Amino acid sequence: MKVFIALALCVALASAATFQEEGFLSREFQLFEAKFAKKYASVAERQSRYNIFKQNVAKIQQHNLSGKSWTESISQFADMTHEEFVSQRLNGYVNMKKEGLGAAKAQEHIDIAALPESMDWRDKGVVTEVKDQGSCGSCWAFASVESIESYVAINNGSLMELSAQQITSCTPNELQCGGTGGCQGSIPQLGWTYVQLFGLVSEDDWPYQSGGNGASGSCDDSSDMNKAVTVRGYELLPRNDYNAILNHLATVGPLAVAVDASFWGFYGGGVFDGCPYDSNIVINHAVQMVGYGTDPDEGDYWIVRNSWGPSWGEDGYIRLKRNSTPQCGTDSTPLSGTACVNDGNDEQYVCGTCAVLFDVLYPIGATAL
Ligand SMILES: *[C@@H]1O[C@H](CO)[C@@H](O)[C@H](O)[C@H]1NC(C)=O
Ligand SMILES: *[C@@H]1O[C@H](CO)[C@@H](O)[C@H](O)[C@H]1NC(C)=O
Repeated sequence: MKVFIALALCVALASAATFQEEGFLSREFQLFEAKFAKKYASVAERQSRYNIFKQNVAKIQQHNLSGKSWTESISQFADMTHEEFVSQRLNGYVNMKKEGLGAAKAQEHIDIAALPESMDWRDKGVVTEVKDQGSCGSCWAFASVESIESYVAINNGSLMELSAQQITSCTPNELQCGGTGGCQGSIPQLGWTYVQLFGLVSEDDWPYQSGGNGASGSCDDSSDMNKAVTVRGYELLPRNDYNAILNHLATVGPLAVAVDASFWGFYGGGVFDGCPYDSNIVINHAVQMVGYGTDPDEGDYWIVRNSWGPSWGEDGYIRLKRNSTPQCGTDSTPLSGTACVNDGNDEQYVCGTCAVLFDVLYPIGATAL
């Protein structure tokens, strides 16, 4: 009998939330349009976006009632279907499917117990404000530039905003992947290699513009530009190595990481644990990991900075569930578009929430000029 009552209550709650009054939803949609400066080409387009929005709000409300360790909220993606979100907004990271780019750093023995229980590089003043890549697949350029900003601050004591646009517009697509590079996706390594050769100017000297139009823009990085920083290269951490990542975050600095962000669209706060391990994991996004900690209710987490603006998630950040014995799955996604020259399509073993432990790297020798 008790079970029945509990069940009936759940159903009542769920349906109360699902069948919203039209007036409420229409007001929510107007707020959404204003907040994210949405402009639709026609009345019909607006109506179809509104219909998708209503379905998303119902899903978000149902999620919020499910008692999971994270909440969802209406984000800038609330007028897109899941398929549109994944194909249009998560097209910025090209999974190279091989170890070739840079050798993993050999790890000495790490005594995990000796590390601090939490670390947050934001508290050290070496993390810039959250950025917004907009409708350009330049996550890789943001992960690249955010890491340089942090290591210049660690090495030189001055935190500067550097140009994600220069990296987006100028980094060559030397791996010859069909249709990739700039707003069509790449990897942070190529951004660092470009900066090593040509230097990088400040955000003020070359502000980000690709977010509005989704165009990579043209490159003018002539030598008379005021180059603010350079790097000497980059290093990879060993793949799927929890101890190496924890140790690096505790003792060296932030990291650039590649993740499967397919289920991040409406993340609103809390410790996220919503990437399944038993279906194909698709690494499709690059972000910056800036620390770790423990939530009194939800347990251990990684602190991850996204590039979807400060209104998304927890002021632009997401906390990912951190398991000291990480779970793993496989990424067997074939390369999208035309495959890269010399690249295999092998299945990869990827570990951690949303594969966050798989592809982990940082720039070395980041220096103010
Ligand atoms: C979901 O829950 C969060 C946290 O309580 C809240 O901020 C958000 O507005 C909720 N979203 C919806 C659509 O109910
Ligand atoms: C930054 O630090 C490096 C060494 O860590 C030093 O060579 C360089 O001169 C410094 N640059 C500035 C602008 O302070």
